[in-house]
Amino acid sequence: MKQVTVQCPATVANLVCGFDVLGMALDAPFDYMTVTLCDEPGITVTSKDGFPLPTDPAQNTAGAPLIAMLEELNQPIGFEVVIQKQIKPGSGVGSSAASAAGSVVAANHLLGNRFSKADLVRFALFGEKVASGVKHADNVTPCIYGGITLIRSIFPLDIVTIPAPDLHVTVVHPQIEVRTSDARQILRKQVLLKDAIRQWGNIAGLVAGFMKSDYDLIGRSLEDVIIEPVRSMLIPGFDEVKESCKAAGALGGGISGSGPSIFMLSKDQATAASLEKIMKEVYTRIGIDHHTYVTTINQQGVKVIS
Ligand code: HSE
Repeated sequence: MKQVTVQCPATVANLVCGFDVLGMALDAPFDYMTVTLCDEPGITVTSKDGFPLPTDPAQNTAGAPLIAMLEELNQPIGFEVVIQKQIKPGSGVGSSAASAAGSVVAANHLLGNRFSKADLVRFALFGEKVASGVKHADNVTPCIYGGITLIRSIFPLDIVTIPAPDLHVTVVHPQIEVRTSDARQILRKQVLLKDAIRQWGNIAGLVAGFMKSDYDLIGRSLEDVIIEPVRSMLIPGFDEVKESCKAAGALGGGISGSGPSIFMLSKDQATAASLEKIMKEVYTRIGIDHHTYVTTINQQGVKVIS
């Protein structure tokens, strides 16, 4: 039986100023997925974790990318997918991307790696379309490539991997659900030129900061004048977490993807751990259940583990 199990990393999309264009993979949490190649055409997706999943593969974030892949292959084969989800849907750390990316990386492995990573991103985007109504690539790309990635263009797909210095990442996931589709709906459709200028200065500064290992430049560039002012209203405690973490030595941070998770970057592990304490204090006081992760940037992306 041709079967493979993959580990799929959580991801932080946007990286504050880079809405829909920047993202990075994390070393925690992970989803796990076992995919079996079948002689019969068709795709089945089942979940072992109690999160309700659409049973129609076309409506499923793991199933839709496989349908796209099989259409391109044009062969009478199928896949069975079993998902063990640990990245909670609606958390803002790329749960749908982990399913979409994991299924195509696993299937490609079973097919002898005939597709490139960029092809896999193209297929995985069908999963994001199912999940949020839009093909945004800033979660699936770092999930597949690992590290920090820039989507310079989505149509046609143009992916740039960005080297970065060692960074520690602290994430808090307040246990409220923010649906990406809702968080996109509330955004203004037009931006002021002065805001656009500030934003593209920050995106360029952030990428340069990563590539030059210039921590101060990274910190200065972690500013979002377009999306965060609107979306932060959906996240109780956001301003307090951000201000307190920066005062405690975080380089900066903001909303992870479309929220409600908040992430902070720091230079060292001790600071990253102190930020976790601050995040826990804020949400304990507000009375919102939460999970935290103190982690680093995952360099490998989806990994075949057996
Ligand atoms: N760039 C997307 C958004 C990421 O912010 O809507 C969703 O995780």
